Amino acid sequence: MDSSTKTQKRIISSGNMELDSRLGDGLPTESLTLIEGSSGAGKSVLAQQILWGALQDGFRVSLFTSENTIKSLVRQMQSIDLDVLDHLLLGKFRAYPMELAHLGEDAPTSLFDAMKHEQGRDLIVVDSFTAAISHAPDELQILNFFEKTKRLCAKGISVIVTLHSEAVDPDLIGYIRSMCDAHLVLRSEQDGQRLVKTLQVAKIRGAGNVTGAVVGFDVEPGWGMRVIPISKARG
Ligand SMILES: Nc1ncnc2c1ncn2[C@@H]1O[C@H](COP(=O)(O)OP(=O)(O)OP(=O)(O)O)[C@@H](O)[C@H]1O
Ligand SMILES: [Mg+2]
Repeated sequence: MDSSTKTQKRIISSGNMELDSRLGDGLPTESLTLIEGSSGAGKSVLAQQILWGALQDGFRVSLFTSENTIKSLVRQMQSIDLDVLDHLLLGKFRAYPMELAHLGEDAPTSLFDAMKHEQGRDLIVVDSFTAAISHAPDELQILNFFEKTKRLCAKGISVIVTLHSEAVDPDLIGYIRSMCDAHLVLRSEQDGQRLVKTLQVAKIRGAGNVTGAVVGFDVEPGWGMRVIPISKARG
């Protein structure tokens, strides 16, 4: 896609049609998205799926990861059929392993400063922000991070942040949720006899028709996220 087409595109597609349809065609651009869930719920896989879709559409993407080296990230994504190697070599995709624990209490500030320097990027993904939160001295630092990130979005950049729900004080997470344009919640839930992964679309700005929808999904080797029917699924 050339840059003129890209600037006209108002949606970040995951490249997975079934998933997109549950997200009201995708995430709005120039937006802040929060992906929440416990360990193993699928935050990284979902973030990787969306960033891969964005790359397919010609977006320039940067990922700050607390979970992977570049090598392990490329391998992990290849294992779910998301190949980013060419994008990485061409500079369309940048990945930065971050050691938030080493940054200590300055982690949220240092992370934001690094994000701010990603000039010319269309999408920035932070996976996950939890480590930064566990070292932040107070809630103000965390709120500051999200407020500054919102201002970055207003300048035309889309940002996705993943977070472990249980790592954050309920009042604080309520405020963070209210600041986000899109909010996706991942859970492992009992569906009859089986445990299934679910994605709840808590909010997507401009896509009221999908708000509240719950979709079941599986992560399959060599394939990635596959939407599966569950008895409680709506939308
Ligand atoms: N290649 C793969 N094949 C099969 N399952 C996979 C593959 N990659 C990831 N998964 C599974 O997908 C699920 C979601 O993993 P993911 O790493 O996205 O969780 P997460 O929410 O990011 O967890 P954490 O908070 O620990 O980072 C896990 O059950 C994981 O085992
Ligand atoms: Mg993860």
